Amino acid sequence: MARKMHETPMLDELESGPWPSFVTGLKRLAREKDYVNDVLGTLETSYRTKKGYWKGGTVGVFGYGGGVIPRFTELKDENDKPVFPDAAEFHTLRVQPPPGMHYNSDVLRKMCDIWERHGSGLIAFHGQSGDIMFQGAKSDKVQDAFDELNELGFDLGGAGPAVRTSMSCVGAARCEQSCYDEARAHRTVINTFTDDIHRPALPYKFKFKFSGCPNDCMNSIQRADMAVIGTWRDNIRTDEEMARKWFAKHGMNELVNDVVTRCPTKAIMLKEVKDVRTGPKISSVRVNETHALEIDNGDCVRCMHCINVMTGALAHGTDTGATILVGGKRTLKIGDLMGTVVVPFLPLKNDEDYEALVDLGQRVIDFFAENALEHERTGEMIERIGLVNFLEGVGVEIDAHMVSTPRTNPYVRTDGWDEEVARINAKKAA
Ligand code: HEM
Ligand code: SF4
Ligand code: SF4
Repeated sequence: MARKMHETPMLDELESGPWPSFVTGLKRLAREKDYVNDVLGTLETSYRTKKGYWKGGTVGVFGYGGGVIPRFTELKDENDKPVFPDAAEFHTLRVQPPPGMHYNSDVLRKMCDIWERHGSGLIAFHGQSGDIMFQGAKSDKVQDAFDELNELGFDLGGAGPAVRTSMSCVGAARCEQSCYDEARAHRTVINTFTDDIHRPALPYKFKFKFSGCPNDCMNSIQRADMAVIGTWRDNIRTDEEMARKWFAKHGMNELVNDVVTRCPTKAIMLKEVKDVRTGPKISSVRVNETHALEIDNGDCVRCMHCINVMTGALAHGTDTGATILVGGKRTLKIGDLMGTVVVPFLPLKNDEDYEALVDLGQRVIDFFAENALEHERTGEMIERIGLVNFLEGVGVEIDAHMVSTPRTNPYVRTDGWDEEVARINAKKAA
């Protein structure tokens, strides 16, 4: 039985809002565990004094250079004794989730049991890092907890200047928008770079994220050094029965105002059936006897909006793969950056395709390891050295689609012009 609960008048207020409160959860654990009771005591003190009382340190498990985030209390009395002794150490284990974050309840129960035995009982599914955060273990329990989690089939995630834990969307398992096997890509890539996850040896962190379609549920474009986002090369598919059904339910106002006018590139038109064009890049579907949608796929930028609104009636094409972007990150040396397209389309169907993905990842990481400055993300490195140099370094052909801003200087050098034209024409003809 735990000691008497600490008074927490400030934290109590956080329980009063409309949402479930982490304070309520912590109190529930604290009834059984002095460990969590003392964490509440520490937190209440922080709220009162507006100071944080945790410092880092070095704690790890055998054979790993990262994955455990050490936290020691700095809240000490005049004799240098912790004010809340049970919570003097509150380390976190970062554990990699399965691709698509699929668990069964048996595994979740076992995880909870392990963490109640060796840690605080507090688990966060999942942190922004992508990991399951097993929060709160004392130094002498970290190895035991890890061993049992490892036995269950799980591994520590990344921390520090290393390849980090990856994330993939639920994708192919449950989502009709999926354009490739995200789980396979995730596993294949992460298994290749396991060493780089556990032994931090890069200039800074490096993250992969996998989204099955341009909806990018993993926010990979904003967060990943290498974002793998599903897409397609052929035309949007249509289904007349479902389109008619959709139209019967939603009507003309919604079709016009929520689908046609919201296409960012005006690739969709609503037409009388008799005026609908045909052609290799045209998709069309009737919504009733008189009207049809006409999509010019040459203008479609795969934003997903129309497909999201009319899922089933419209669907992505069948020539699927992924777009690879490099350099997304949050604010650091320079402000937030979104990933830049380095491979507009990489087919992801067979073994060789997945090997090509791993190979590209390897080249990008190697180049990053060699060329980035200390504490510099890929996006910042590319800004500093220039995209052209990066592409050359990783052996990717430059493509007109990669120009983010047209030049403003009208003077051009034309030496080598004819050879370059011949080379591009030969490439186009290939
Ligand atoms: C020296 C003190 C601490 C520092 C410097 C620190 C720093 C960090 C950093 C850098 C992250 C990663 C955020 C991200 O991935 O975007 C993080 C995540 C997290 N930390 Fe701490 N932390 C400290 C103490 C604690 C303590 C004591 C707790 C819990 C009692 C805690 C709970 C968490 C949680 C739940 C996350 C995951 C949040 C998320 O990724 O969504 N941290 N922390
Ligand atoms: S990113 Fe696309 S495929 Fe993945 S879950 Fe989201 S909508 Fe589905
Ligand atoms: S997916 Fe293509 S056609 Fe549909 S709204 Fe987006 S850009 Fe337009």
